[in-house]
Amino acid sequence: MMRTIAMIGTGYVGLVNGTCLAHIGHQVQCCDANLDKIELLQQGSIPIYEPGLEALVAENVTAGRLSFTSDIASAIEQSELLFIAVGTPMSETGAADISYVRAAAELIGRHLTVSKTIVIKSTVPLGTGRNVENWIRMAMPDPHIPFDVVSNPEFLREGSAVADFMKMERCIVGAIRPEAAKLVADCFEPLGTRTHFTSPESAEMIKYAANAFLATKISFINAVANLCERYGADVEDVARGIGSDSRIGSAFLRAGIGYGGSCFPKDTHALSWMADQAGYEFGLLKEVIHTNEEQKYMLLRKLVQALGDLHGTKIAVLGLAFKPNTDDMRDAPSLALIPALVAAGAHVRVYDPVAMTEARKWFGNSVEYGTGVYQTISGCDACMIVTEWNEFTSMDLNQVRQLLAKPIIVDGRNCYSPAIMQEHQIEYHSIGRTATV
Ligand code: NAD
Ligand code: UGA
Repeated sequence: MMRTIAMIGTGYVGLVNGTCLAHIGHQVQCCDANLDKIELLQQGSIPIYEPGLEALVAENVTAGRLSFTSDIASAIEQSELLFIAVGTPMSETGAADISYVRAAAELIGRHLTVSKTIVIKSTVPLGTGRNVENWIRMAMPDPHIPFDVVSNPEFLREGSAVADFMKMERCIVGAIRPEAAKLVADCFEPLGTRTHFTSPESAEMIKYAANAFLATKISFINAVANLCERYGADVEDVARGIGSDSRIGSAFLRAGIGYGGSCFPKDTHALSWMADQAGYEFGLLKEVIHTNEEQKYMLLRKLVQALGDLHGTKIAVLGLAFKPNTDDMRDAPSLALIPALVAAGAHVRVYDPVAMTEARKWFGNSVEYGTGVYQTISGCDACMIVTEWNEFTSMDLNQVRQLLAKPIIVDGRNCYSPAIMQEHQIEYHSIGRTATV
């Protein structure tokens, strides 16, 4: 059944959810406190790089199912379901900062004059659902009007967000009243996904536990990779070998330079903080975070091994976004690596297929900006691969060898086989495999 929906917060999650919910038949108003963002969207431009999203937005705006507004109060008043999809960034203590959620809840409260259902999409600490209910009620002109708060965490990945929504593997709905849970689950009914009904706290924990578990797999394989290097084993073979055991599974066993992005780092810290608050020593999770921090500097160590003192060297860095198919650089490994290279005295030339505008905000004048793969590596003493964009996994290695001043590649994503590099007489350092010199 078609529902009217206000999506409060039109970032990655809000824009993708709002657009996709419109696409499956709902009437959606996406709103945001950032007026520039809304203006851009009203003009038909998309503020983020996400494959397939621009066309889907245009299609649903034209069909009259999707609109963008900065008048959040009106959108609240006109909608049956109010989704909260605002950011919950990491605060200085490591806890999730839920001030944006609180602001959205209070705004909802001020404009809640008939019964509605509030859906929390943002990733929020356990117990936030109950807090949201209180914040709304305290702001309501008439606190006797009933309403529901439902937890419905999001599992999309950047770069494949539209497909992740449309082929949703599971939907988690945490509610107190079964009628409210059903109302929310029914919104996703056209997707034919499996719905798990839980308490609000369990739904909130499912989100953190899922991200922490995936982060654990990555840190585990990275630690195994570091050990592989010491004993001459190949982590790619090891990952394939263990991953084909269905109890382990092959996903998230790609060794590299550590996980980044807007969620794994902040969510693992937030869960660790929650454990501390509860007086529980979650040592395993702390070690996952520590291993990841160490891993970010692995490439730098390999480069120093290959080149010695970096002072006065020219280094090409390919890939700035935290993973391919996104321009998102939040907590990207490149943000740790590049300042360290600059601090070590290297001249750094960087390139990313879509994150160049974003990169200028982070690196300013501290680096040189390349215009393509081959221009970027030209004349450099070494090339570092930081993100596995297709452009970087399919380079013409003959050209690469000719263009580099020294034929050295330090690859943080294992994009090539050591044998191919040896064939092309390129010194190759990767993760969890023996270097070819
Ligand atoms: P984002 O920073 O891209 O977007 C958040 C948006 O909310 C911004 O546009 C901001 O202007 C807006 N906003 C903040 N306060 C507001 C308010 N009071 N009223 C209206 N708008 C407001 O964040 P995101 O990446 O979309 O993440 C949102 C939430 O979803 C976070 O809790 C995150 O952990 C979670 N999440 C993100 C992803 C992802 O891939 N990015 C996936 C799953 C879950
Ligand atoms: C992740 C989860 O996969 C989503 O389910 C979740 O909704 C989202 O976080 C969130 O809560 O925001 P995302 O951060 O977009 O999605 O990207 P992932 O594909 O999970 O990659 C995260 C990081 O892990 C990247 O830096 C990636 O390079 C790294 N990674 C991933 C590895 O190093 N190895 C792997 O095997 C997989």
